[in-house]
Amino acid sequence: MGTPVGAGGSRPHSQAVTRILGIETSCDETSASVVDGTADSAVIRSLVILSQDVHRIFGGVVPEIASRAHVTSIVPVVERALADAGIVAGEVDAVAVTHAPGLVGALLVGVSFGKALAHAIARPLVGVHHLEGHLFATSLEHPDAAPPFTALLVSGGHTILLDVEAWGRYRLLGRTRDDAAGEAFDKVAKLLGLPYPGGPHIERIAAGAADAGGLRFSRPMLRRDQRPGDADYYDVSFSGLKTAVLNEVRGRESLDDYSRGQIALAFQDALVETLVEKTARAVAAFGRERVVLGGGVACNGALGFAMRSRLAPGGATVYAPSVRLATDNAAMIARAGLYRFENGERAPLALNAYSSLPIPGLISA
Ligand code: KG4
Ligand code: ZN
Repeated sequence: MGTPVGAGGSRPHSQAVTRILGIETSCDETSASVVDGTADSAVIRSLVILSQDVHRIFGGVVPEIASRAHVTSIVPVVERALADAGIVAGEVDAVAVTHAPGLVGALLVGVSFGKALAHAIARPLVGVHHLEGHLFATSLEHPDAAPPFTALLVSGGHTILLDVEAWGRYRLLGRTRDDAAGEAFDKVAKLLGLPYPGGPHIERIAAGAADAGGLRFSRPMLRRDQRPGDADYYDVSFSGLKTAVLNEVRGRESLDDYSRGQIALAFQDALVETLVEKTARAVAAFGRERVVLGGGVACNGALGFAMRSRLAPGGATVYAPSVRLATDNAAMIARAGLYRFENGERAPLALNAYSSLPIPGLISA
C-alpha cells in the first residue's frame, strides 16, 4: 500500500498535477485510492481494497449484504487510503466515484459518500463508469498500455471487446450474448465443487492437469466462415459451454480430482481460445499494435499466455494487469476520474447510480 507505481517520474515539472480520491463500491469490494497525475500519466499514492468474504458462504454476491457491508466499511477504507497517501481529505482536488454499472444498492453507498465528502471539502465530484475504470487499470502499471489499442474486458459481470482509438473514444465491437467470462468460470467451478469466486480455482486445477484426457468442448460462437459484419463475428456466448460442462459432469459416475482437473482444463481451453480468436480479429481489423486486458479474468495466466502466443508473431504486445488491479479497485476509478476531470467533466450533486449504462464515449463501429 502506498507504493507509487506507474510513469509519474517522467512527468515534466511544469505540468500541473491533479490529485484524485477514487471510490469503488459497485460489487463486493469496498475500495478507495489516491492517484496523482495528469490526463496522460498517473501514479498510485495509496490503494485500499476490502473484499467482502462473507459472500463465499452463499456461493455468489448477495446484493443486500454487499450494500450493508459497504456502509460499514466505507469510512475506514477512505480514511486508510488518505492516511496511506499521507494527506487529509481537503488535500484532494476532486472525488471520483463509480456510479454505474453494478449493484444499485452497493453503488449508492459510494455515490452518497462521495457526494457528501465532495460537498464537505468543497471539491468537485466526478462520476466514473466502472468499465472505463477497467480500461485504465492496466496503464497504471504499464504506461505503454495507452491508446490506440484493442481492449478485452473480462470480468464477473461483463465481457466486451472494444477498439480504443483514444481515451474517451470507444468502438464497441462485441460482447457476450449471455454469461460473462468470469460468470462462466464461477458457474463451472460450482459444478466441479470448487469455492466462489471460481476463476482462480479453475486456473489452479487446470494447471495441475497434464492434459484434458482427450476431452474437448466446442468453441462457442467461433466458426471459420464468420466474416466481418456478421453479427457473431466479435460476439461471444458462454452459456452453451457451461451446459456442455454440466452434461460432462452428469455423464460421469464419479468425479475425482484427476477428472476435475481435466474438465477444468478443457473448459478453460475452449473459453480462452474463443476470447483469443475474437480479440485477434479485432487487432487485425483495426491494425492495432497493442492489446489491453482488463477485469478479473484478465489475470488468468492461460488467457495471457494464449493471447501473447497468438498475437506476438504479428507484432502486437499484450498488456495484462496484476491481480490487484485486474479485480475491482478504486485506483482504476481514480485514474479514469482523473481523465474525465482533466476533460472538464463535473458531476452534479444529483448524480445517480445505475445498474446498467453504456460506457461513455462510444463511437459507431
Ligand atoms: O473484475 P472483477 O473483480 O469483478 C467484476 O467486476 O465482476 O471480476 C471477478 C471475476 C470472477 O468471476 C472471478 O472468478 C474471475 O473474475 N477471476 C478469474 C481469475 N481471477 C478472478 N477468472 C479466471 N482466472 C482467474 N485467475
Ligand atoms: Zn469490475
